[in-house]
Amino acid sequence: MNKVMISPSILSADFGHLRASVEALDRCNADRIHIDIMDGHFVPGITFGAKMVAALRSATKIPFEAHLMVSDPGIQAKAVVAAGADIVIVHHEACADLEGEIAAIESQGAKAGVAINPQTTFDSISSNMGSIDTLMIMGVDPGMGGQKFMPVVLDKIRQARAYVDKNRYGTIIAVDGGINIETGRLAMEAGASELVAGSAIFGAHASVSDSIEGFRKLCWNH
Ligand code: DX5
Ligand code: ZN
Repeated sequence: MNKVMISPSILSADFGHLRASVEALDRCNADRIHIDIMDGHFVPGITFGAKMVAALRSATKIPFEAHLMVSDPGIQAKAVVAAGADIVIVHHEACADLEGEIAAIESQGAKAGVAINPQTTFDSISSNMGSIDTLMIMGVDPGMGGQKFMPVVLDKIRQARAYVDKNRYGTIIAVDGGINIETGRLAMEAGASELVAGSAIFGAHASVSDSIEGFRKLCWNH
């Protein structure tokens, strides 16, 4: 299996010093930086938007993965790509025209991904697998960091992995929410190729670099 990517989510970083957090991730060579954009409508919380993406862009060359937890993904997707996002993840549950959203992101030169909530089946997205960069399987209900991983989604990861391998797609299978060393191991064993982690990296007793190092060892030993 190819190397598993580690994507720290800055949702759990200190919002008063986000640029310093991104610089710290730059020094740790994170694979992607996961940026959770919430609009207070698709999910209750509000975080930040394209202007923050633009403000952080010059702090690192690490790819920015914008996870749009918004009701109007079309408008926000365009804005975050213009602000420097490299990968844009839209929620299947928020898109009336998923194919159209994917095509619009790609036509701007970014990679497109789709996130699915714990209640959403893999079958509802399987026909799109050949045309997306990343399938993001939520391990928790979206909206908040620090929640407990739902083991029931492991089966969905296995299904996605079997489907991608059978069709020889290069689709990245990411898992987001509730990921720590233990649940990360389970997700990897089920077939995940990208682990998103917020509180396990920014809220841990260990430093950010030691926490990332812990994930790296996990992936190397896989
Ligand atoms: C949750 C977000 C996640 C969040 C994960 O809605 O999409 O990216 O940052 O946080 P942890 O890793 O703490 O579950
Ligand atoms: Zn996220």
